[in-house]
Amino acid sequence: MRVIRAKDYLDASRKTANVISAQVILKPDSVLGLATGSSPIGVYQQLIKWYQKGDLDFSQVRTVNLDEYVGMGPGDEQSYVAFMRRNLFDHININPQNTHLPNGLEANAAKQCACYNDLIRGLGGVDLQLLGIGHNGHIGFNEPSDCFAKGTHCVELTQNTIDANARFFENKDQVPKKAYTMGILDILQAKRVVMIVTGESKAQILKEAFCGPVTPKVPASIMQLHPDFTLIADEAAMSLVGDLL
Ligand code: F6R
Repeated sequence: MRVIRAKDYLDASRKTANVISAQVILKPDSVLGLATGSSPIGVYQQLIKWYQKGDLDFSQVRTVNLDEYVGMGPGDEQSYVAFMRRNLFDHININPQNTHLPNGLEANAAKQCACYNDLIRGLGGVDLQLLGIGHNGHIGFNEPSDCFAKGTHCVELTQNTIDANARFFENKDQVPKKAYTMGILDILQAKRVVMIVTGESKAQILKEAFCGPVTPKVPASIMQLHPDFTLIADEAAMSLVGDLL
């Protein structure tokens, strides 16, 4: 595990974007595993700027997102597919046919999960996976549990996650209760993983995930075992780890 300390959100975003940028330059047809939420927005903004300057070319890049709310599709502003278009895809020269998210409108969970697992395998796996971390330690929507879920699956979101995501909706009742998410094995099988963690509110979970034992109660802790895992965290998020990391 490699730890890169950043000053603040902007610095962490730029450092993370640099890692993604290097990946795309070195392998133009990379499969990027992408995330939504507040953490990667600054990363996407930086990548867009470099694309606009002519420094990056996404024409051959393929993407697979970690997750999508069940019941939501491209027409829903809060869906992750809409988020990705708004925050990244509509602003770079990526081929929309090369961008993939679980289909939240597919009601048959078993079918959708098998289909997404096949898709990831068909692409040859993920070259570089971008992650954020939930306040309860979730990655993707792999919530704290008694065991690590392996492939893409349908999850019931915890109240903690519903509360955290309510900020993107008009009220808490509108937050979907279920999501499709890549599993822990999918994430572990990515060749490289980079996680961005910023802000004081993430300090406690960062300490638990990376200074504590590997446990499905803190799903992100499994990343301690990944052979090419980079944590990029700002001073506020690192404030409780001292020199443990
Ligand atoms: C979303 C995802 C989630 C988020 C996590 C942190 O695609 O994978 O695991 O990374 O909920 O969200 P933010 O960045 O909003 O704090």
